[in-house]
Amino acid sequence: MSDTQHSCVIIGIAGASASGKSLIAQTIYEELVAELGAGQIGVITEDCYYRDQTHLTMEERVKTNYDHPNALDHDLLVQHLSQLVKGDAVAIPQYSYTEHTRMSEVTPFAPRRVIILEGILLLTDSRLRDLMDASIFMDTPLDICLLRRLVRDVQERGRTMDSVLKQYQKTVRPMFLQFIEPSKQYADVIVPRGGKNRIAIDMLKARIRHMLIG
Ligand code: CTP
Repeated sequence: MSDTQHSCVIIGIAGASASGKSLIAQTIYEELVAELGAGQIGVITEDCYYRDQTHLTMEERVKTNYDHPNALDHDLLVQHLSQLVKGDAVAIPQYSYTEHTRMSEVTPFAPRRVIILEGILLLTDSRLRDLMDASIFMDTPLDICLLRRLVRDVQERGRTMDSVLKQYQKTVRPMFLQFIEPSKQYADVIVPRGGKNRIAIDMLKARIRHMLIG
């Protein structure tokens, strides 16, 4: 992390599935947007960059390992972040967890002073790490993550309990151990207990303000 003023501050938040990444990202966003003003801060989710699978059948799509780095189009994410840093707007793909592919719609995203990036595999890619001004790893216990994921995927992502548990054993947990947990070494800050960690939120907000002022 440098102490110079940044034209665009990029904060990366990684960690296991359902570790609280989107909660902490959203909390920092909501609390800072009041100070910085609308359009000055935004959140980008790595999940929007899952590869397009419209050419595959549903049967083929469910077999994809969504926790392996190859499932994500990091080339496009790197390209979009580089464009935003330069001051150009981008069109972020929209993703459907029920269709397991990209939708035809996109979300226009204008350049802004602060971008909070959140996603499981962000810290595994050196190009993304290089673009980040600060990186965070949510170190939430895996049993808590599994409980949250089970409830969320059944309630919000159209899954059955059986399918969530099978996927967890087959890919989610092994890929966490192989790729996500080792990427913790690259984080500047490791946050225990989850997305409601008030001291971590306040420290991150203070750091963002500091980087904006220089
Ligand atoms: N995933 C899936 N099916 C897809 C695409 C993704 O089941 N078609 C799952 C992957 O298995 C991966 C997870 O989505 O583990 C990534 O999203 P996750 O990190 O759980 O959600 P966030 O809301 O970004 O994070 P958090 O729960 O930490 O807030």
